[in-house]
Amino acid sequence: MKYPKKYLDEIKLKLKVSQVVSKTVKLKKRGKEFIGLSPFTTEKTPSFTVSDEKGFYHCFSSGEHGNIFDFLMKTQSLKFGEAVRQLASDAGMQPYRFTSLDLEKEKRYQTYTKILKEYSNYHHKLIFEKNSIAFDYLKKRGISEETIIEFQIGFVNENSEYYNELSKKFNEKEILDTGLFYKNERYNKFINRFHSRIIFPIKNIVGDIIAFGGRIIEDKKIAKYINSPETEFYKKGKHIFNLERAKSNPKRNQEVIVVEGYMDVISIYSSGIKNVVSNSGIALTENQINLLWRFFSQPIICLDGDSSGQKAAIRIAENLLPYIKENNKINFVSLPNGVDPDDYIKAKGKEDFEKLLKKNLSIEEFIWKINLNKLDRSDPFAITKFEKMFRSLCYSIRDETLKKYILEHYLEKIKKLTPLQRDKSKFNKKNNKNYRILSETKKISIAKDHLSKEEIKEYSIMYIIYNYPEIISPRIEILEGINFSTKILNEIKGKILSLISKGELKEENISKLSREYLNLIKDINQNSVIKNIFLKKNHDEQVELLNELLKELNDIKFSKKIDQQEDKLMREFDEKSLSDLIELKSQINKD
Ligand code: UTP
Ligand code: MN
Repeated sequence: MKYPKKYLDEIKLKLKVSQVVSKTVKLKKRGKEFIGLSPFTTEKTPSFTVSDEKGFYHCFSSGEHGNIFDFLMKTQSLKFGEAVRQLASDAGMQPYRFTSLDLEKEKRYQTYTKILKEYSNYHHKLIFEKNSIAFDYLKKRGISEETIIEFQIGFVNENSEYYNELSKKFNEKEILDTGLFYKNERYNKFINRFHSRIIFPIKNIVGDIIAFGGRIIEDKKIAKYINSPETEFYKKGKHIFNLERAKSNPKRNQEVIVVEGYMDVISIYSSGIKNVVSNSGIALTENQINLLWRFFSQPIICLDGDSSGQKAAIRIAENLLPYIKENNKINFVSLPNGVDPDDYIKAKGKEDFEKLLKKNLSIEEFIWKINLNKLDRSDPFAITKFEKMFRSLCYSIRDETLKKYILEHYLEKIKKLTPLQRDKSKFNKKNNKNYRILSETKKISIAKDHLSKEEIKEYSIMYIIYNYPEIISPRIEILEGINFSTKILNEIKGKILSLISKGELKEENISKLSREYLNLIKDINQNSVIKNIFLKKNHDEQVELLNELLKELNDIKFSKKIDQQEDKLMREFDEKSLSDLIELKSQINKD
């Protein structure tokens, strides 16, 4: 029994040749193709090439050549049916069952596509008839004869009798199943759904016409465009107008422009930009973006510059963000208000349109820009909502690594926006200015590079504790309450403070301390940047200096805490981390 072409095509659609081959042959990318050591010979220099675009592998040393089914049959000695079953399962498809039902479906598909093809041919010819209003209309819109032929544009006259033609070859059910006609029960007549319209054939990826879009010529009070209704073989969210042509362009790169309308595609395509497709004015589905990504890693969404087009673009961005990956991107271009791509290219020309395309924004930049424009930065509730919205958007990204980086990217940007954060930087500046005396220590501190900023302050404080007990003694409690950054610093602080409080800070008691502590005291005495400055101050200045040191240490610790909390939020991404951070930040304004 024969497998239906459609089933085999679907497997080929879902599995790239490189994907199948690379399970047994190590492949390297070279341009659009892959290259590796031939599985058919024992070569040392690679002569085995794989082209996903063409759907074939070719071995230059043995002459072996074929598609994914051939590959499995040859390399794993499978029968055709076995290869199909294995690949179907790799593609996540049900095994094919040769029931009479399937055969019926295959037959229906053949009939269906045959009717649509004949319908298309017939109405395409009508455009070139004498006094054709359709031809005049298209000419007025700047569409050449060549383009009409390329896109097989057709015209259905008002009183189309084409049903009668078709009924000579096909039965009523077969014709009605195509959705091209409907029955007017009252007059017992079959109406051509697209009558009085210019029609654009819509092909599936294998190249068969499966539906039509139709535009009214005169401004009647009916829908400007209609599409074929959904049928057994045409499901709206699964096909893309012009993809079949765009993907077959041998000069194509990774970009494809996605526009709203048929006329936009036709106008752009005929200007020479061939990588253009349309989702026919509906939202781009997950299905459709996956289909696009099979051929283009970088679709550029370029919808109309009116509010409905922009809203549709935002919806696309937010709905499809979950699926992006490092090689599956989506970019956006905005057109001036009230202009569609067809208008734009007609008014400004191809070069300007290409320049505009270069200004595309990546999906995350686009989402940011749109939402930022709507944000009232002075309203904490609005910012909260804004941040939560971005967090939940990022959460939806399926690729775990990308999710992390995009979230970080957004939080970084949000950090710069929030009033609290702006206060934090102001706060640091303001306070730094007040540390007039301490600024003298800056130069020296640079030399102490084995110490962190925090430790430099801690060393200075420890130096004062150790060497100036008379200043410390009235402030013991305050100093006990300070938590230094290392355990050993805290221990030595505790010991010295306790000696001071007992009035026992004497050489003989110090020398009883362990070697580790003694070394630390030595290090503090040598490396405290405060040493020389402190010496030159009078008592009051010394007290002031100590207080400033304590305050500055406190600030450093506080900034560090905020940084750590922000890291935690980025890592854990939970409500608790966020509320802790907000709580921390709110303390900045309190002191
Ligand atoms: P537009 O209204 O933007 O049309 O619809 P257009 O592409 O600029 O067409 P012209 O220039 O007036 O000829 C964009 C797409 O939305 C769908 C069609 O697929 C259309 O190409 N649409 C629009 C409908 O399905 N029904 C309608 O009534 C209008
Ligand atoms: Mn238009």
